[in-house]
Parts: sequence; C-alpha cells; structure tokens
Amino acid sequence: MDGTLNQNDISHVVEADRAHIWHHLIQHKPFETGEPRIIVEGKGIRVWDQNGKEHIDGVSGGVWTVNVGYGRESIANAVRDQLLKLNYFAGAAGTVPGALFAEKLIKKMPGLSRVYYCNSGSEANEKAFKMIRQIAHKKYGGKKNKILYRDRDYHGTTIATLSAGGQDERNAQYGPFTPGFIRVPHCLEYRAQWDLSGEEYGKRAADAIEEVIISEGPDTVGGICLEPVTAGGGVITPPEGYWDRVQEICQKYDILLHIDEVVCGLGRTGTWFGYQNYGIKPDMVTMAKGVASGYAAIACLVTTEEVFDSFKDNPDDKMNYFRDISTFGGCTAGPTAAIENMRIIEDENLLDNTVKMGARMIENLDQLAEKHSVIGDVRGAGLFCGAELVKDRSTKEPEDEKLVQAVVADCAAQGVLIGATNRSLPGLNNTLCFSPALIATPDDIDQITEAVGKSLGKIFG
Ligand SMILES: Cc1ncc(COP(=O)(O)O)c(C=O)c1O
Repeated sequence: MDGTLNQNDISHVVEADRAHIWHHLIQHKPFETGEPRIIVEGKGIRVWDQNGKEHIDGVSGGVWTVNVGYGRESIANAVRDQLLKLNYFAGAAGTVPGALFAEKLIKKMPGLSRVYYCNSGSEANEKAFKMIRQIAHKKYGGKKNKILYRDRDYHGTTIATLSAGGQDERNAQYGPFTPGFIRVPHCLEYRAQWDLSGEEYGKRAADAIEEVIISEGPDTVGGICLEPVTAGGGVITPPEGYWDRVQEICQKYDILLHIDEVVCGLGRTGTWFGYQNYGIKPDMVTMAKGVASGYAAIACLVTTEEVFDSFKDNPDDKMNYFRDISTFGGCTAGPTAAIENMRIIEDENLLDNTVKMGARMIENLDQLAEKHSVIGDVRGAGLFCGAELVKDRSTKEPEDEKLVQAVVADCAAQGVLIGATNRSLPGLNNTLCFSPALIATPDDIDQITEAVGKSLGKIFG
C-alpha cells in the first residue's frame, strides 16, 4: 500500500463501517467483536486490506467483476476526461461513448445489433423479461407470456429476477414471487437426474425443457432465460449436446432465447461471451459485471434486429415501443470505461491468456483431486472454475457447508481470496469457486491452488 491512510485514519474507517455499513450477503453479529474486512487498495490481481495484508484476488472483486485487474490508469483517465465533457444525459438521447461502445460491442456479437443500457445485471434481465412480456402482448394477445428459467441458475436480486431464480435458499423468505416464471431442470451431469452420460445426458437435460413447455402449453411460453455456464449455482458447464438441443427447442416452439452473460460476459470463459463456446444463437443477451470490470456501473441488454424491429413496426400505435427507462443507463462513465476495458482485453490478448490460465487452473485442481478425495468434481471454462467438495466420492454426499467455508477462510488467512457457493442451494453450498482476473500469470494460478491444497490438507487431512 502507498500509505495514504495512517493507522488512526484506518481505525476511524473501521469504526465508521462497523457503525453504519450494512454489508451485502453477510450476517453482522460477528462484527460486534471482530472487524469487517475492508479492502483499501488494489493493483493488478492483488488487493490490500485495512491491516495492510496483501491478498491475491482469486475471485475478481468477490463476484467475477474486475476482469482486467485493479489500478488501470487508462480507464480512470478516460472516465475522468469524459465526466468533465459530459457525465450524463437520459437515454432517450444518445451520448458519444454510448454509441461508440455499442458499435464495438456489436462487432463481437454476430447476429445481434441493438444495445439497451442500464446499470446492473438484475436490471438488464428485468428489461429482457419486460420485452418478452410486451412481445407476448403485441403478437400473441398476451398469452405467450411465461418465461422459463433453470434450477440452480441466478439472474438477480429483484423480486422478478428472484422469481426467475433457481436457487431456493437464496429465494427463501422473499416470496411471494411474480407469477409466470416456470422452472426447468438443471443440466449438471455430476448430480445426474437421468442414468445417462455425455451427449446423451446433455440431450436428455434439454429434452426436459421441452417436457415443461409441452406441459405448460407452447402457446403460453414466450422466453427462456439461461446462464451459458451457471455461476453462483455451482459453476455448471453444460454437457455435450445440451445447447444444440436447447436451440432446436426454442426454434420449434417460437420461444425467445435470452442468455444471461452477467458473469461470462467479456472474456471470463476465454471467448468474448460464454454462449460463443457453444454455437448458440441468442435473441437477447444480458451482461454487466465484466463489461467495465467494475470501473463504472454498466449493464447492457443486447438484442437481434428482429426483436428491435418488433417494437417499431407500428408508429401510429402510441403504446407500441419499449416504454422503459433506466436513469443511470444514461451515465457516460459506464460505456467510456467499457471501451477502454475492451481495448485492454484485445491489446493484451487476455482471451488467449484466459484459455491458457484456465487450462492450468483445471490441471492444478485435477492434481489436487488426486491427493484430496474431498474433491468430488472439478469443472470450468476459462478462468471460471469450480471444485465440488464431497464427504464420499461414491455417494457424492455434499461436504458440510461450514467446512467448505473453513477452506475459504483458511485460504484468506494465507492471503488468497477464493469463493464458494453461498446460501444458494439447500444442502449443496459445497462448491469452491475460482475466477481470478484475466491477467493472471502461471505463478498467480499456482499460488491460488497451492493455498487451496494446504487448506484442504489442514481441514480434511
Ligand atoms: C448470472 C447472473 N445474473 C445476474 C446477476 C445480477 O447482477 P447484479 O448483481 O449486477 O444485479 C448475477 C450476479 O451475481 C449473476 O451472477
């Protein structure tokens, strides 16, 4: 750390935090005696806390966000310059960075052409739900309004996105939920729901979606929202054959395919978007976290020209356009930071690095699995990896959540921040998550997995 805060300043900050901050996703009782973690500074892939302790950040800001790493002066400078020129104007008008980032983004997304700006992943997903609902009203007399979502997927924190949330523990106590959201089964082969494997399993898991569509009535289902690789639900990479079949089903029943790229978006899996690993042709794509690596808040809903056109086909009808706004969707800091973020990913070849470092991470985790039988399954795509911990490999009984959290805490004590599924799935919060910045070096990857190996040794013997 550069020492800009002295010990008195930092004690004051800790006390102010303790007295006034309501942290996200955490029980506060322990802070009555212990200190909350405060991150003071970041550089590259490392962060420093209030005690000056250095950590390697294996989770890109905790939730898959800081893809290009901390301390990027070029992003800060670009945002500063833009803020002085024009910080904001509401989205019914355009802005220079808004138009220029949209143009760059669309070049990376063949088949899609329109960008709708807002400011969080949840909000972008809500916009997609609203579009699907409005299309149902415009084209199908309101009937084709149901939206399918998948067990174990997460799409956000608002009531409507929780209604499309496949994580029962995350949803518990926040109901009642919005009607019209229908669950389909997950596709995690390790927790198989059918006695099949590989491509057969993938096709069967997708067929399960068709079964739900048929039982609901195809004329009532307007859209399906899926993560390309499920993130907080346990890093679920799709089985072979799954996505081809999903695409066929969507076409067969005229169902809009909405891909939630909030985690995979912009490089996390080694391609610009997760769906591009699987040959998917979405109608709508939402993204947020990695779009500007957390240097400014930005989220985008990107659609095909066909979806866009359906909102302008009858200008005489005063209700016939997307009557939606997002105040902070008009902030120029987001697209300005996003332009620079994309340039960095390109100029520094970070997609290639992600593929290489992701392979190294999986190899290291596989080696750990040879030594530690508590690792039941290793999975991932690019720098988006998970290790599921089990008490017994043959029964696959999930490891005790407290012990999974103990691994996370022990790694942090060693100066390595990793994640784990958390209050998501009843009895199945047992997957360790690894998602360092896309700039990670071989040494960084090895340091992360070495720390995990030490923790597993200490906790499980
Ligand atoms: C797949 C996915 N979709 C949507 C969201 C919601 O994004 P936000 O927290 O920006 O609202 C998240 C957040 O973790 C996510 O993981």
